[in-house]
Amino acid sequence: MGRRAPIDAPPRVARFDPFAGAPRLNSARRVGIRPGTELIHPLAATGARPLRFHVDGLPEGIAVDEEGTLRGRAPAAAGTHLLEVTATNELGEASATVELVVGEQLCLTPPLGWNSWNLYGPDVGAELIVRTAEAMVATGLRDLGYQYVNIDDHWHAERRAPDGSPLANARTFPDGIAPVAARVHELGLKLGIYSDAAHLTCGNCYGGYGYERTDAATYAAWGVDLLKYDYCYAPASAAEAEARYGAMGRALRETDRSIVLSVCEWGFRSPWRWAPAIGGSTWRTTPDIYDTFSWSPFGVRHIAWRTLRQADHAGPGRWNDPDMLLVGNHGRGRSSGVLRTPNQLRAPLRGRRLWRFRGLTDHQAHSHVTLWAMLAAPLLASHDLGASSELDLALLANPEVLAVDQDPLGASARRLPAPRGWWHLVKPLRDGGFALSATNLRRGERTSTLRLADVVAAGHSVTPTSGRWTVRDAWAMHDLGELDQLDVELPGHGSALLVCHPA
Ligand code: GAL
Repeated sequence: MGRRAPIDAPPRVARFDPFAGAPRLNSARRVGIRPGTELIHPLAATGARPLRFHVDGLPEGIAVDEEGTLRGRAPAAAGTHLLEVTATNELGEASATVELVVGEQLCLTPPLGWNSWNLYGPDVGAELIVRTAEAMVATGLRDLGYQYVNIDDHWHAERRAPDGSPLANARTFPDGIAPVAARVHELGLKLGIYSDAAHLTCGNCYGGYGYERTDAATYAAWGVDLLKYDYCYAPASAAEAEARYGAMGRALRETDRSIVLSVCEWGFRSPWRWAPAIGGSTWRTTPDIYDTFSWSPFGVRHIAWRTLRQADHAGPGRWNDPDMLLVGNHGRGRSSGVLRTPNQLRAPLRGRRLWRFRGLTDHQAHSHVTLWAMLAAPLLASHDLGASSELDLALLANPEVLAVDQDPLGASARRLPAPRGWWHLVKPLRDGGFALSATNLRRGERTSTLRLADVVAAGHSVTPTSGRWTVRDAWAMHDLGELDQLDVELPGHGSALLVCHPA
């Protein structure tokens, strides 16, 4: 039996200040864009302001603005452009090569951003979306690589316009979606929207089925950058799902924007097998996440376990999506927290509480982000960004953990053999190193030994070397030295994330 972790011992995570110190470039190192479409891409640099940017190798039609956002139109011809990016401030300089890949594949690294659903449910509106985009900038999250601000269900007017085109709710989006997109773009961010491959969405607003070309063209005209396409009220068959998502994928590709298609049929019809071919960049692997760490089908652990089984299907432009992050919601979500409980407990269970979603503990939230980064998952915060606690931000804004998620190789973590009650995961990195995580799945504090030779022995595309490894604690942002094994002592439900390179 392990000792219980003292409940006041917080997760050991660095508090990274995105507005201090020498420059650091956090932008995804590979960026996909369709030929001839608008590019808005923040170079995502942290450090003391002001920061100055210089980029060599920009194709004609693209420039970098004062804030470090690449703006313009992608070349008409497919091909890769190597951008040599430098950010400078009074304390130093940072350089990196960013590959701009002009072609049909988007999301060459998993999308980072925010989605309205978990906390706000149906209460979305222009003011919330603009406020969230501004908070993404003010918190420094944009400068760490977060980009998408996604409107989920319930943005719709009661019905479409007489000509069939989609209309936003005139009360909550008084000037429609276009000015919201324009403000989001002005901030160097991207706007996502939501629809459903049937006549209705899950929230009973009108869906996109039969209107794919009208909707895609309108979204493009509004300036939308991502579409989450749901599957309520649609037929069960996988062939039909593939056809319906295929129709929307085609319609999006016929527009003059790069619009990411995010497939949301909850992993019921093996979307990892067909979604990449119809233009889907991400697909949900499970039903909705709820604000709980439990093993039940909607809990963080179960969802991570299910998603790990699909590791082989992840790669650049094609990501398993284990749903949004719950960090910062603390059980308050309309859609995934305590407020949801009463609806699910109508008769015949009257009076008996089956599920209570009180939210994650700090260590559970720490494990949640660790697992999602190891899975190369989209990282979509879903809380009130402006009300983030210091720990919420430390969990979302750790540049070394984000770099594991965003690694350009695009491999998802796989499980290594581990003692009972532990997950040891390995994720190969493009530079020949690997990320290694340990998660204590039980309640009490326990210690586990990680042997780096075991990682090599297990294959997993990690380059074998005979010797030792330099090991860095990504969460603490400090070097642990040259090691061949280490003992990790973790509180109940806690995690560690290490980045290892041949010494
Ligand atoms: C669900 C979906 C959720 C959210 C909701 C909106 O089907 O999985 O993430 O989008 O619909 O009604």
